[in-house]
Amino acid sequence: MTQTTKVSLRGLYKIFGNDDKSVLPHVKAGMGKEELLTTHKHVLGLRDINVEMQSGEITVVMGLSGSGKSTLIRHLNRLIEPTDGEILVDGVDVMNLSTTDLRQMRQNKMSMVFQKFALLPHRTVLQNAAMALDIKGLPTEEQEQEAKNWLARVGLGGFENHYPAQLSGGMQQRVGIARALTSNSDIMLMDEAFSALDPLIRTDMQDLLLELQVELKKTIIFITHDLDEALKLADHLVILKDGAVVQQGEPQGILMNPTDPYIEDFVSDINRARVLRVRSVMQPLSEGQFAGDVQANDNLESLIAASGGDTAPALPGLGWQQQTRRHPRYARFGQSSGAARLQLGSRHPLSLKRPPAPQAPAR
Ligand SMILES: Nc1ncnc2c1ncn2[C@@H]1O[C@H](COP(=O)(O)OP(=O)(O)OP(=O)(O)O)[C@@H](O)[C@H]1O
Ligand SMILES: [Mg+2]
Repeated sequence: MTQTTKVSLRGLYKIFGNDDKSVLPHVKAGMGKEELLTTHKHVLGLRDINVEMQSGEITVVMGLSGSGKSTLIRHLNRLIEPTDGEILVDGVDVMNLSTTDLRQMRQNKMSMVFQKFALLPHRTVLQNAAMALDIKGLPTEEQEQEAKNWLARVGLGGFENHYPAQLSGGMQQRVGIARALTSNSDIMLMDEAFSALDPLIRTDMQDLLLELQVELKKTIIFITHDLDEALKLADHLVILKDGAVVQQGEPQGILMNPTDPYIEDFVSDINRARVLRVRSVMQPLSEGQFAGDVQANDNLESLIAASGGDTAPALPGLGWQQQTRRHPRYARFGQSSGAARLQLGSRHPLSLKRPPAPQAPAR
């Protein structure tokens, strides 16, 4: 599938303070956040951000508190004006939009899901979900039909006439997601959308988002400070530190090749088998017996479990290669996933090879 860039940030700088443009040259010359604050009383928000966000993908921006995540996402709909740089949405520089065009873009192209849900307490679940269509002036019946459909999709069928206070946090955030989906925008901005939820509910919401995304293929920009969440959701992961991008790419690539001690530190405790996908390690195999099919997108943990059952959770100290070597079994990829086969086990240990380019199907 060819990728289309939906949002580009190019050479984006943000400095907070009265005279941001005048101190910009210092920042461009390399002045750090602390020095800028002490000598010029300005706060460095973002430094030379270059990120391409692809259509239909989840771009996750991750970093510690104060690293600039919210500042970055707020530039996309110009809630914050950059000090320097370009913000392109569908190829159009949002800095050149008139007030009317900007309002149109915010209404039609982008929706937001907030950490604190931001539902209107005196409106019903249905009215909350329909809000964007209400603002657009659609007839009530049409609004409500659309909102009802999306509420059902997020598992809230039957709750239309409840009020937000009658729902749990997880359910309220489902309303937040239904509201964003009802607006029918291509781009969803989610700033710490699941951070206020209990861990189990949070996992549910991540699963829901991934499940919806398989079909909807929205362009999602998801902000989090949680590495597990970032690795689970991201097609493209951008790691911020002190307002600058330290590394970006496919999560698996970052995990396998951290380019910075800061990232190495971050990923050191991660269970790689949970993040690495079969497609990153598969290689062609022409003969042998096969225990069953696996999906190229399955993670190694599920593959290891399928290959022997007793390895992955039981031997947490072992790398996945060692674990799989104990279980000489075979697995095979379905034809649909590129017709490569994967052999597990000691005769042909897994290696970290890129998958072969998919072949055209035989006629
Ligand atoms: N309006 C503002 N005026 C001055 N400084 C600001 C302003 N907004 C943000 N900052 C500063 O910019 C930096 C980045 O803030 P930002 O809110 O983007 O971080 P964040 O990564 O979203 O953090 P968190 O995880 O806590 O939400 C911080 O140093 C913050 O203090
Ligand atoms: Mg923030």
